[in-house]
Amino acid sequence: MTNFTFNNPTRIVFGKDAEHQAGQETAPYAKKVLLHFGGGSVVKSGLLDRVRASLKAAGVEAVELGGVKPNPRVTLVREGIELCRKNGIGFVLAVGGGSVIDSAKAIAVGVPYTGDVWDFYEYTASPAKALDVGVILTIPAAGSESSSSSVISNEELQLKRGLTSELLRPRFALMNPVLTCTLPAYQTACGAADIMAHIMERYFTNTRDVDFTDRLCEAGLRTIIRNVPLALASPDDYAARAEIMWVGSVAHNDLFGTGREGDWGSHSIEHEISAIYDVAHGAGLAVVFPAWMRHVYGNDVARFVQFATRVWGVENDPFNPERTALAGINALEAFFRSIGLPVRLSEMDVPADRIEEMALKCTQKGKGTTGNFVKLDSKAVASILRSAV
Ligand code: NZQ
Ligand code: ZN
Repeated sequence: MTNFTFNNPTRIVFGKDAEHQAGQETAPYAKKVLLHFGGGSVVKSGLLDRVRASLKAAGVEAVELGGVKPNPRVTLVREGIELCRKNGIGFVLAVGGGSVIDSAKAIAVGVPYTGDVWDFYEYTASPAKALDVGVILTIPAAGSESSSSSVISNEELQLKRGLTSELLRPRFALMNPVLTCTLPAYQTACGAADIMAHIMERYFTNTRDVDFTDRLCEAGLRTIIRNVPLALASPDDYAARAEIMWVGSVAHNDLFGTGREGDWGSHSIEHEISAIYDVAHGAGLAVVFPAWMRHVYGNDVARFVQFATRVWGVENDPFNPERTALAGINALEAFFRSIGLPVRLSEMDVPADRIEEMALKCTQKGKGTTGNFVKLDSKAVASILRSAV
């Protein structure tokens, strides 16, 4: 195990009616906030009205900015920054999923900065200050409600880039699993794939002596594998929705990654896909992860045997560890299929003609590598993508 500091200061308020605490949780930070939301699900469900009422009752004034799209765009972020400056706003309240939260975080770091916020995502500047952010979560998936990251798309450049800074951790996250019962089945499944990916990015490591976090990761994966089919069969199953929501947060709040180096190659490859083709992040991961695994499992067959046997219940074949390892990867792919996700690029209508371009983009124009479990150059990335066509 490596040395680590774990400090996740996001206050979690979890359970039925959590959103009614929006006003009381926000009021200590600001009397005027930007209320940020997406394309309409929060209007339709009545959630936005409940949040407005809670803010009003606590004496908090809200300036509203909706319209965040999945794979959130820097153009709306810039609009939000101007709106905050014009209205003297000191706090951003995100009501939605990863896209809304990431857009809120980008606005929060952009307001005190004199340059263009995209600089932070190109790594030509790093933020020194940020407004505070609060979250009311509507989809368990990205884990942005307590993560230190924000992922933003630049539609002009067809780039999707992540910024990581401790300044980005939300002050609080209100998490009511009931809010997730209105999710379409496809979004529930995409969220599940993202949650599993956040765990697996941490699980596949070269760091030794990480037994406790291995077992935490396995518990997280098994909880998702058990509860997602239940939520898909009965969308109003509170118990299943609650399990998924809590794993989704812990999967990306850095606990499972303590004392070990994560990989993150599959995420960087997927971001190139969604930057160009605007696919759901979780769907892209369902395609990339099994292909990545088949490319890298030889680096540590024993770790893949552990994954197969402990997570998927594959019987260990002591005379053929490779077969056991591959059976685990096949089980993951079959699970993704069973919950309605694509497992090939063609199933997402992503053609093969820009594979080389994507491979170059995620390896610093071919000069670097991505991932840590196995360092992948652009040729390796292209080969993984070709195997997923
Ligand atoms: O826009 P609305 O109408 O709200 O619809 C959304 C959207 O179409 C809908 N939705 C959300 N909650 C709903 C609902 N529909 C019905 N009922 C509800 N309760 O779901 C769709 C997807 O929403 P989105 O916010 O895009 O999903 P998700 O949470 O999966 O976020 C994906 C984004 O997060 C980034 C991804 O790259 C992607 O851009 N990530 C952010 C991370 C972070 N900040 O730490 C880490 C992740 O690895 C990821 O990269
Ligand atoms: Zn993710």
